[in-house]
Amino acid sequence: MVRRISVIGAGYVGLVTAACFAELGYRVTLLEIDPERLDALEHGVFPVHEPGLPELWQRHLAGGRLHLTGNYEHGLEGSEFAFIAVGTPSTKNGKPDLRWIRSAARSIAEAANGPIIVVNKSTVPVGTADLVAKIIARYKRNNHDFAVVSNPEFLREGWAVFDFLHPSRVVVGSADMNAAQAVSQLYEPLGCPIILCDAGTAEMSKYASNAFLAARISFINEIALLCDKFGVNVMDVARVVGMESRCGDGYLGAGLGWGGSCLPKDVRGLIYMAGSQRVSTPLLRSVLRVNLRQPQIVVAKLQRLLGSIRGKTIGILGLSFKPDTDDMREASSLFVISLLKEHGCQIKAYDPAAINNAAKLMPTVTYCGDAYEVAEGSDAIVLVTDWDEFKELDMIRISSSMACPILIDGRNLYDPEEMIQAGFIYEGVGRGEISRKKPEVTLVKHEIQPELEAIESIQS
Ligand SMILES: NC(=O)c1ccc[n+]([C@@H]2O[C@H](COP(=O)([O-])OP(=O)(O)OC[C@H]3O[C@@H](n4cnc5c(N)ncnc54)[C@H](O)[C@@H]3O)[C@@H](O)[C@H]2O)c1
Repeated sequence: MVRRISVIGAGYVGLVTAACFAELGYRVTLLEIDPERLDALEHGVFPVHEPGLPELWQRHLAGGRLHLTGNYEHGLEGSEFAFIAVGTPSTKNGKPDLRWIRSAARSIAEAANGPIIVVNKSTVPVGTADLVAKIIARYKRNNHDFAVVSNPEFLREGWAVFDFLHPSRVVVGSADMNAAQAVSQLYEPLGCPIILCDAGTAEMSKYASNAFLAARISFINEIALLCDKFGVNVMDVARVVGMESRCGDGYLGAGLGWGGSCLPKDVRGLIYMAGSQRVSTPLLRSVLRVNLRQPQIVVAKLQRLLGSIRGKTIGILGLSFKPDTDDMREASSLFVISLLKEHGCQIKAYDPAAINNAAKLMPTVTYCGDAYEVAEGSDAIVLVTDWDEFKELDMIRISSSMACPILIDGRNLYDPEEMIQAGFIYEGVGRGEISRKKPEVTLVKHEIQPELEAIESIQS
């Protein structure tokens, strides 16, 4: 018998979950309450940019394995599983906002007309499986059995379909092992390791994974600052570090920092959870602080190279928080552009997919049709998002059309030598500064002097 699944929320995760479960042969109904999003999907307008997803979606919609509705009763009819994939953004103090989880749980309880396994796929704090169970017990309209399972999602935007279908692991946590087993069976065709655990372990594992990824990037960004000062290339350093099996080579790319819909809110969420138990988290706080500092590097570099930047036109290449998505949530471009505007700069920008979303958040930016238009007459360009498209640009054409050919490569996408050959004054992140004056070696020496003295005294 074909298994029937409902997925709640047609966002990045819900759309991927629904289309990929259909790909695995299940009959899936996607439930969405936003009428605009529902309408767009019903009229074949795909609401997010995610490579491969619209094609998969259309194929299974046409093939009848995938269905879409705004009505919970229709959406849950005959479903054994309801996967909740609604947003869990941060509130001001970092607390994960669970209002959409609560409302989805209540709607499921009120509409389900048979036994159901409710699965939290959203990223939620420890204890949320219990909260959902309480809501369902309170609002369910009949005596059918239900169970709650935590099954966090680890996909990366831009790679979402691939990640869902080729996961490194699937985590399924619940107090009800039969329900957990039933959920894990859905993933068996993927042939990946499946970790069965309690719900709290599953919930915490997701936060810990994201916080660890964020920590790695903040770590290499701090090293990149040092590399800039000492004229060392952080990319070579990261390669050496990454070759050590105890370190691993993922998430060691220095740049303008991490953003997006997950890492920032999940690090803040973990700090909030710790606070609720009166546990201090100096490491996690530093991970955030280092990240907040990264956009300021752009301003510092431009000021060093241009002098005053007031009134200068700065071109921005890339706006989305990473390539291959149109997601602008906590994108580095927002912070970089806001700082540049505070310093009186005019901003021109281009992104292959995110201009519509960006324009809603930053209406005073001049949006361009391509990177060449951005470069025309600009005093500097800053590469913020490393879309593949930017690797293929005619960089001589770009540099020769600029008022001043400064390129700040915020993702270390380009080869510095090639950029200098193409006529740029080039700076990456952690690849050595081009100073107008001699590097301030004395200041650095002064700062590390006590440590140096201590080491020397031990050696002598
Ligand atoms: N985006 C990612 O890359 C990613 C990766 C892993 C995990 N997650 C987690 O997955 C969850 C969802 O993230 P997202 O980026 O897909 O969110 P999203 O904001 O893109 O989408 C959420 C969708 O749910 C809908 N919705 C809200 N309440 C609803 C309800 N009661 N019934 C039906 N639909 C409802 C919204 O209208 C929206 O379309 C979050 O907890 C997030 O942290 C996201």
